[in-house]
Amino acid sequence: MDDQPKTAAPINLFDYAQLARGRLPKVVYDYYAAGAMDEISLRENREAYERLRLHYHVLAGMQNVDPATSVLGQPVAMPVLVAPTAFHRMAHQDGELAAVRAAGKAGTVFVLSTLSNTAMEEVTAAATGPVWFQLYIYKDRAVTSDLVKRAENAGAAAIVLTVDAPVWGTREPDVRNQFNLPEGLFVENLSPSGKQAFPKSAGSGLAAYVAQMFDGAIGWRDLDWLCAQTKLPVVVKGVCRPDDARRCADHGAKAIVVSNHGGRQLDTCPATIDALPAVAESVQGKLEVYVDGGVRRGTDVVKALALGARAVQVGRPVLWGLAVDGEAGVSHVLQILRRELSDALALCGYAAPDRVRRDVLGPG
Ligand code: GLV
Repeated sequence: MDDQPKTAAPINLFDYAQLARGRLPKVVYDYYAAGAMDEISLRENREAYERLRLHYHVLAGMQNVDPATSVLGQPVAMPVLVAPTAFHRMAHQDGELAAVRAAGKAGTVFVLSTLSNTAMEEVTAAATGPVWFQLYIYKDRAVTSDLVKRAENAGAAAIVLTVDAPVWGTREPDVRNQFNLPEGLFVENLSPSGKQAFPKSAGSGLAAYVAQMFDGAIGWRDLDWLCAQTKLPVVVKGVCRPDDARRCADHGAKAIVVSNHGGRQLDTCPATIDALPAVAESVQGKLEVYVDGGVRRGTDVVKALALGARAVQVGRPVLWGLAVDGEAGVSHVLQILRRELSDALALCGYAAPDRVRRDVLGPG
């Protein structure tokens, strides 16, 4: 840090992305940053927020704005949760432990990826806030059941099932870079079952791992299976269509994440903020709806709330915070979002997230 010029002090999430790019090895930065194929959905996730305009109220008595809310009945300090992202120790030696501590200090939920470099038991032991566990279904069902049981025993408060990856999206930088985990890093949650390392591959080692391990054939019966396996609420992540969203509710999910996996799976699928309104309307309050992908500003959070989300999730900015300054970097990223969100709420004339109305995106 000391050798950084003062002007490099980051004040927004874009600054963090730029600084992180300068600090991370190219292979690592590319892995975190890449989208699938031509990265059209990756760009659209961001640009769709930039197209939306906020039609603010005035004279609304904005003295005590409080961005606190709740998700799945758990109070959180703001409707901004930490999305599951893989392999945090490539960004910083403290990896997931730093990120979970920062999320706890920010008073929000940390969603731990199956693909973490730190075992879930260590992560929940370090947590001071709620941890949800993101699950990929492995071909080996005993291994999958074991992950769910371990998450329950470790104190996770929800299981987040990712459903947008029947095959792995092609992230071309990873193919070119022959992406692999740096020496000494593993998929630690899978160490007990011996599935912690990538196979040898001429392309992306992670894509080879996924092809070998994850069950691409999962269907609605597997959501039923998961809901029957666990007493924890199940959140389905990767839904972009109203009909699928309704089916999630019918099959026992308690929440969904409108997500296209950060533009990393099916390229040219819609931006998530564009997919959100129809999805949120279709579920008629039967489950909670969150959205991720492209959230970089407090105003983005207000837009997502206006279109029916209960909360947003942020992924890459947390990795950039980690890369720049470990736990302190993640804390700062979350503080920036909280301050920007409070300001955006006040400037729109809303004292709290649940006051946000659709017409702030345009009357009529
Ligand atoms: C992991 O979930 C990834 O998208 O690489």
